[in-house]
Amino acid sequence: MTSPFVYDFGYPWPITWIHLVPIVVGLGAAALGVRLGWRHWVVGLWGVIGIWGIVGLILTHTMMGGLNAPQRVPSDRFMASGRGRVLDVGAGSGRALIGLLLARPQVTGTALDIYTGFFGITDNTPERMLRNARIAGVVSRADTVTGRQEDAVVRRQLRCGDQLLRHRPYGPGGSVEGDP
Ligand SMILES: C[S@@+](CC[C@H](N)C(=O)[O-])C[C@H]1O[C@@H](n2cnc3c(N)ncnc32)[C@H](O)[C@@H]1O
Repeated sequence: MTSPFVYDFGYPWPITWIHLVPIVVGLGAAALGVRLGWRHWVVGLWGVIGIWGIVGLILTHTMMGGLNAPQRVPSDRFMASGRGRVLDVGAGSGRALIGLLLARPQVTGTALDIYTGFFGITDNTPERMLRNARIAGVVSRADTVTGRQEDAVVRRQLRCGDQLLRHRPYGPGGSVEGDP
């Protein structure tokens, strides 16, 4: 399992670390309650909130390999031959693409993204995508293209992949005719 501190995918902290709030508040209040002699059930309730936070934090950072780690390929059948090229549409900081490149060592991939505005990733840049790919040791098999998925020119240039990794719908024009 990869530590949640290795990669920087730019997910806002309320997504990755929100459970710290019930942990600190719940366990803090429980400790205070013990000290001040609160009723047992009140102390217990705060303790349960703290423990719920701990369980949530552990699940967030372990399930499917963890939220702040490269995404596991959800199906063994995806690019099962282990080779080919993939176009990750809306790749952002690269969690899905890097996960795929790690799982399929002979696959190469292109990260297509507008890299502007906010779609759940803070300070989204192609540089960060490549930085994460370097950390994973897959940067030699990854590149980035900055453009809109619905841009005909970009799509024509990129119509080279064997497989598409798609994340949609993202904003107006997110649905495109003629997708493979
Ligand atoms: C929720 S993020 C997902 C990023 C990444 N796939 C992940 O799993 O972490 C959605 C991404 O889609 C990109 N995006 C939104 N609209 C787009 C468009 N029209 N063309 C290309 N990328 C777009 C955003 O910039 C953002 O990086």
